[in-house]
Amino acid sequence: NYDFQIAPSILSANFARLGQEVDDVLASGADIVHFDVMDNHYVPNLTIGPMVCEALRSHGVTAPIDVHLMVKPVDRLIGDFLSAGASYITFHPEASEHIDRSLQLIRDGGAKAGLVFNPATPLSYLDHVMDKVDMILLMSVNPGFGGQSFIPGTLDKLRQARERIDDSGRAIRLEIDGGVKVDNIAEIARAGADTFVAGSAVFKARREEDPHRYDSVIQAF
Ligand code: DX5
Ligand code: ZN
Repeated sequence: NYDFQIAPSILSANFARLGQEVDDVLASGADIVHFDVMDNHYVPNLTIGPMVCEALRSHGVTAPIDVHLMVKPVDRLIGDFLSAGASYITFHPEASEHIDRSLQLIRDGGAKAGLVFNPATPLSYLDHVMDKVDMILLMSVNPGFGGQSFIPGTLDKLRQARERIDDSGRAIRLEIDGGVKVDNIAEIARAGADTFVAGSAVFKARREEDPHRYDSVIQAF
């Protein structure tokens, strides 16, 4: 049995009232804040950076902040996010010139490090760095946008990643990102994921009567 964690992606939050939105999902039972960083270069979209992470910390957010870097190059932003209070920093291995060094930079700064795999990126990037990885993030959509559909082939890849983690004997989190909904999360969990990113599923579930509560969807997970 795994320790399951729900990580709402603030990509689907209302950025004009971000602090309140993050407070609301945490009060509704979320465990981690998933923070999508897009640079209009590695992915065709532009979002938020270290200043916003720092602002959430100043606002009083104490929950882990899970920074998903969809940027190229990777390394310079690592230091900025370490100073801004990131708890996890994950990056796409094909966007880093020196994968081992990027992982080491994150760990030396006291955060947990992870690699992110696009749907067609092979897990073999893990071969020589398994001892430096605290999280494996499998993308179940192509990165860049919220609200896309879960790519079913990811289930098999999750099983392969779970096997690698079990073989390693290390406590590595297995996170899934993209198209996670109430009606597919059980199957995703059975395939081996223990950390579930959900953007549109969470933030579109706001209720008219009580706009600050997301319990219904977070508890349904
Ligand atoms: C996509 C991002 C995801 C996105 C997921 O590139 O990495 O975190 O917010 O959104 P949903 O849950 O709507 O697929
Ligand atoms: Zn993400």
